[in-house]
Amino acid sequence: MHRLDPNEYLRRRTRILDAMPEGSALLVPTNPERNRSNDTDYRFRPASDFYYLCGFPEPNAWALLRKSLEGPSFVLFVQPKDPEREVWTGIRSGVTGAVECYGADEAHSVEEISSKLGPLIETAERLFFSFGHQPEHEPQITEVLRKLRRGRKGALGPSAIEDAAAFLAEFRLFKTEAELDLMRAGAAITDEAHRAAMTQCRPGMNEYEIDALIEYTFRRRGAWGPAYTSIVGGGANACILHYIENNAALREGDLLLIDAGAEVDGFALDITRTSPISGKFSPAQADLYQAVLRSQEEAIAATRPGTTLSDIHDGVVRSLTASMVDLGLLDGAVDDLIETGAYRRFYMHKTSHWLGADVHDAGRYKLSSGADRPLEPGMVLTIEPGIYVAPDDELAPQALRGIGIRIEDDILVTEGGYENLTLATPKTIADIEALRS
Ligand code: GLY
Ligand code: MN
Ligand code: MN
Repeated sequence: MHRLDPNEYLRRRTRILDAMPEGSALLVPTNPERNRSNDTDYRFRPASDFYYLCGFPEPNAWALLRKSLEGPSFVLFVQPKDPEREVWTGIRSGVTGAVECYGADEAHSVEEISSKLGPLIETAERLFFSFGHQPEHEPQITEVLRKLRRGRKGALGPSAIEDAAAFLAEFRLFKTEAELDLMRAGAAITDEAHRAAMTQCRPGMNEYEIDALIEYTFRRRGAWGPAYTSIVGGGANACILHYIENNAALREGDLLLIDAGAEVDGFALDITRTSPISGKFSPAQADLYQAVLRSQEEAIAATRPGTTLSDIHDGVVRSLTASMVDLGLLDGAVDDLIETGAYRRFYMHKTSHWLGADVHDAGRYKLSSGADRPLEPGMVLTIEPGIYVAPDDELAPQALRGIGIRIEDDILVTEGGYENLTLATPKTIADIEALRS
């Protein structure tokens, strides 16, 4: 299992507590267990904000950070030990384990949250809690607040509520060395999965065989699994941006688009590669592929502090639009085709998103002024241009119809520019074809 350096959780809490105002508390629940049917649940995945604070892997738990006159403290509410339940659903850390193994200053049974939480936050003037994210938790919190406000001691409890998710997002956006080490480990696992897929895919196989190979590689190497449902689209299925059915036969002469990333100890990777099912790109596929690759390489090279995701996207749009004209997909002046949005017929999504604990990670994209946010060292973003020619686009050259190509890497912004965390995964035509020769 790849694990984050356990000291990282304490370092995170220290940074977060430093930034919290005196007289405030931050309360974050993890996910509930999600029922699949009857008494069968989905595999549990902790809520990202909660896991970020403490790395506690069990369901039905809450983390509370307090910054008060008595000093900072970290409280966990967890499922209590219950030998009978543990036979069915696994060993619980319990309140003792929460203190001994997860660094809580104090811990309580989650069953006591409605009586214990009130006294812990009654002197806090500000409560960071995310209303509107996990509605199932809200009745409990509003009940605690209601009791505090009605208390005989006069108006008690926080008078200001602030969004915990927005507050934590600003920490999550900037990756530490320990987090980057974990992401590099995730990149190596994801690289192995993409290489295995590109090497082993053959005409006549089914998309689900490749999907299974990718998931097998992730799990075999100690990742939690895919960080999002893998997209494995052969031929024209690559033109469906969120294609996850992954159950069609792979055909000789088609391309295969794979968008898949491992999740390692709560951190996501997000890589897309497009490769020929029979091992060699046709001339038309190669032309389209080179256009996407060129736009991607230019965008990566332009990544540095101070530039913005809009700058990166605009550069990609310009490069792709010029290629669309060269390839006969569009006709006209590049400026006009950008101005009118004509390029969107073949490139209809954005180029980048933040990447971290979630695949579409936390963090504001705009400054409060509304202006684009300049990139800063420590941010990780994807760069993922594509061209998708619908199979029924009768205005497009025949040879290009039904081809979908995306190339996606995960890019760390550094002081001097960037580091491509997913550089190892082959993406030039020569390197991809060499995997099969
Ligand atoms: N895999 C989701 C995305 O690329 O945004
Ligand atoms: Mn992706
Ligand atoms: Mn992505």
